Amino acid sequence: MAVKKPKDDRMEKLVSLCKRRGYIFPSSEIYGGLTSCWDYGPLGSELKRNLKSVWWDTMTHRRDDIEGLDAAILMHPQVWHTSGHVAEFNDPMVDCKKCKARFRADQLEQCRCPEKPSKNPIECDGELTEVKQFNLMFKTFMGPVEDTANIIYMRPETAQGIYVNFLNVKNSSRQKIPFGIAQIGKAFRNEITPGNFTFRTREFEQMEMQFFVHPDEDEQWFEYWREQRWAFYSSLGVNMDKLRWHEHGPDELAHYAKAAYDIEYEYPFGWQELEGVHNRTDFDLSRHMEATGKNLKYQDDRYKEKFIPYIIETSAGCDRTILTLLVDAYDEVEIKGEKRVFLRLSPKVAPIKAAVFPLVKKDGMPEFAEKVYQELSKSFKVFYDLSGAVGKRYARMDEAGCPFCITVDGQTLEDETMTVRDRDTMEQKRMKVAEIVDFLAEKTR
Ligand code: GAP
Repeated sequence: MAVKKPKDDRMEKLVSLCKRRGYIFPSSEIYGGLTSCWDYGPLGSELKRNLKSVWWDTMTHRRDDIEGLDAAILMHPQVWHTSGHVAEFNDPMVDCKKCKARFRADQLEQCRCPEKPSKNPIECDGELTEVKQFNLMFKTFMGPVEDTANIIYMRPETAQGIYVNFLNVKNSSRQKIPFGIAQIGKAFRNEITPGNFTFRTREFEQMEMQFFVHPDEDEQWFEYWREQRWAFYSSLGVNMDKLRWHEHGPDELAHYAKAAYDIEYEYPFGWQELEGVHNRTDFDLSRHMEATGKNLKYQDDRYKEKFIPYIIETSAGCDRTILTLLVDAYDEVEIKGEKRVFLRLSPKVAPIKAAVFPLVKKDGMPEFAEKVYQELSKSFKVFYDLSGAVGKRYARMDEAGCPFCITVDGQTLEDETMTVRDRDTMEQKRMKVAEIVDFLAEKTR
């Protein structure tokens, strides 16, 4: 007899933890929510800021060959005709004639029938329409007149903002090829089947970098950026056994790409793309040059001939990386017969770096702890907690992803040392406040 696999409820538990601890809430929840839209709460917004800051630091501050950019979301509509998005940024779609639900035609096996969730749309008895192409760009109107002449698009990727600013950045920064431009920003796609919590949403943030190279050097830079981006996830403490490369076959390659690899993560719902590294050739700059008549060719002392640079793109989803960090950090441990949840986020990105507790509410401990809290707050996001048994306070912080808990106890009043407990090793060391500042600086760097 086949043994039934236990239900994998990790995603449900994570969604519930995110709500309970203030990481992620359904958007407009008091109105019943809005499908596939999510709001980051107090801890979630800190986590997101920390991730973006690590990415920005890695991609720009620590290098002298990448410049930053923050382009507008709304761009000249012609950009999206030129880039090929108006004509080709489509997903194949089918409708169910019975329940009227809409599905991605190329992902029918993974989709669920809304009326019979145990079945996919092929297995249920609804008849499907012919496949139609559905453009993923959101449209809106610029100005007070809502007619076709005034249609503009919500950008579906941040990359185009970089391409149209190639000359501006090159000329103002005086960078020479090879060099890159990095950007973090919102993108919008009217996905047919969003889902799996924040994995596929209609509004999301991207962290993209476009590296401009000589056409003869594209393959070597492509390999270089694949290595760099792989190492990034290791630096965030992600379990590397859960990552793998997926090379795009000829039928998967985007209209602009010569080669593409995805970094995939093994989520509870299967292996899925986390980030893409693409060799976009000179497709984008050539198209923009043709459309605008502006000369986007490059020449300098090193390269005597004029050429249109090739572009190696690294394109990560910010929200998808947050989801990956949360899934990867979620851990359940049984301690003395009680199931405890730990969110083992790396101290680099954890929203709260340390919590300060007085062991009891007397003997001057709260006053001392308050001072320690004030001192640490000058450099780190810390949390002060005085309520409940100390075991309960530890448990709350473990579940909230806080890596260190600092307890002021009887000995503190004698020698000014406090215990610093590590969430993951459970090791406790005694330190004075100045040592704690250095310790946290080292751990969170
Ligand atoms: N500029 C290239 C580009 O946009 P992509 O593979 O379509 O490439 C890059 O997207 C990354 O953006 C993906 O690897 C993913 O992390 C994120 N992403 C794409 N669509 C998304 C969606 N609907 N929801 C959340 N993240 C998304």
